[in-house]
Amino acid sequence: MSVAAENEFAAAKIQEELALNYLATGEYQHVFQRAGESGDPWVFKIPAAFGFVLPFEQPQRFFWPETLCEKLIYHATLSLPQYLERRISKRLTAIDGHGPMRRLGVRLAARYCRLVRLRCFREMLGVIDRVASHGLSEILLPYRIIRRCRARLDVDGRQTRYEGPMLVQRRALLFEEGVDFVSVNWQDIVDAQHMLWKCGIGVSGGGEMLGTRSWALLDDRISLADTSALTTNKSQIRANIQPELLDKAQNEAVRHLDANGLGRANYYLTRIRQEINLKRFNELWGSGL
Ligand SMILES: Nc1ncnc2c1ncn2[C@@H]1O[C@H](COP(=O)(O)OP(=O)(O)O)[C@@H](O)[C@H]1O
Ligand SMILES: [Mg+2]
Repeated sequence: MSVAAENEFAAAKIQEELALNYLATGEYQHVFQRAGESGDPWVFKIPAAFGFVLPFEQPQRFFWPETLCEKLIYHATLSLPQYLERRISKRLTAIDGHGPMRRLGVRLAARYCRLVRLRCFREMLGVIDRVASHGLSEILLPYRIIRRCRARLDVDGRQTRYEGPMLVQRRALLFEEGVDFVSVNWQDIVDAQHMLWKCGIGVSGGGEMLGTRSWALLDDRISLADTSALTTNKSQIRANIQPELLDKAQNEAVRHLDANGLGRANYYLTRIRQEINLKRFNELWGSGL
């Protein structure tokens, strides 16, 4: 079946409420698969909603305050209640540091994070549209955007309902989950980023730029799987493409890949960096607009 036909096929099946089972999560998106459809070639992505769909267990990981407003919210909802409760629990041993104040704080923080993730998700869909408008959607895993979707989500037997935007994407093996590093055509990673850069789009994050994270292999083709790495923010990419940050990403990737017996990682990463670097970025950014 061609990619277009497959997309139509997926769309036809997602008119009504979807029944989805939890598959995996990242920081920005929760990922589901269709219930009772073993071997379904599609996954279903929604904005992360820790504290609603999945537990909000590690607030520090999922709520990393950056702006002044976020710092205020973070301290008011999470660190202050935690601090006060630790103080109180020293006096009242019955309170274990996870008392009502912290629970309320977590609820408020979770609400705020859900809103932020929804906004990020919508922005991401906007960048995907932009990639498509430049005729570059082949760089991404085959996908379908549903602007408004209803779904029943099942996470370990716990059911929640979801209504909102969804990204339906072809199921694939992400590189960080064990693709044989030396067997892929690394020029594809370079070409894809150069094409994106020319249109004022890029992926942020060292691993994403070097191709060791967020890309996937589908039918021997390299495509971007984690589209939340996409951005049109030039200064964000520029900040991440600094040589010392890429050195760090390269060393981490080599450690990880060589530990998995994949050897020769450094050879390939060094070749990629001959084309994915600050100089090439400055030359190419926006040159095709
Ligand atoms: N197309 C896909 N096929 C199979 N698994 C996927 C796919 N996309 C994501 N996943 C799984 O879901 C996890 C989170 O998805 P990801 O796109 O990385 O979200 P985030 O933007 O939050 O990082 C991935 O680490 C991977 O395990
Ligand atoms: Mg990810």
